Amino acid sequence: MKALVLYSSRDGQTREIASYIANLLNKERECDVFNIHHVGEIDWTQYDRVLIGASIRYGHFHPQVAKFVKKHLHSLQQRQSGFFSVNLTARKAEKRTPQTNAYTRKFLIQSPWEPDCCAVFAGALRYPRYGLFDRFMIQLIMRMTGGETDSSKEVEYTDWQQVARFAHEFAVLPGKL
Ligand SMILES: Cc1cc2nc3c(=O)[nH]c(=O)nc-3n(C[C@H](O)[C@H](O)[C@H](O)COP(=O)(O)O)c2cc1C
Repeated sequence: MKALVLYSSRDGQTREIASYIANLLNKERECDVFNIHHVGEIDWTQYDRVLIGASIRYGHFHPQVAKFVKKHLHSLQQRQSGFFSVNLTARKAEKRTPQTNAYTRKFLIQSPWEPDCCAVFAGALRYPRYGLFDRFMIQLIMRMTGGETDSSKEVEYTDWQQVARFAHEFAVLPGKL
């Protein structure tokens, strides 16, 4: 059976992480990757595991993620499942676990879904790609939290080895179906 990877991404980093994981999974089994915002009807009978990844913007995951979980809860619970979140708070190692990353902890507490594995990845800071308002706001947050404030910079904080370890953890979850 195949694996399904779904992502919710605004600026592309979560999409990149999802594709990276899918490429690793593809070495062992077939894997489909879809944007959760554009995915149509899902033929769940094809999949024995599903992974959802989502990024944070101004303190929140896109509401579509929780909506998707609610709509497909039964299908998610029936198979092995994983969740990963992507944000800049996680650039600090001590805020890069589901328990220590406030956004992720809150999501898991509020969600009726209990994924079998979960990870938090540091995202990317890409000032030149942001509009004026977002650039200003992110600069402010970075100043307050001791991060990069040079608005000409693009910095990728994602630890790809951590991503690869998580992909393996997800891949070897024993089948439920
Ligand atoms: C407008 C904006 C708001 C953001 N708000 C937060 C935030 O509240 N907390 C945080 O940790 N990271 C925040 N980030 C950082 C993003 O989560 C990070 O850049 C991530 O890589 C974005 O992933 P995506 O490209 O898949 O959307 C913000 C980024 C932008 C551009």
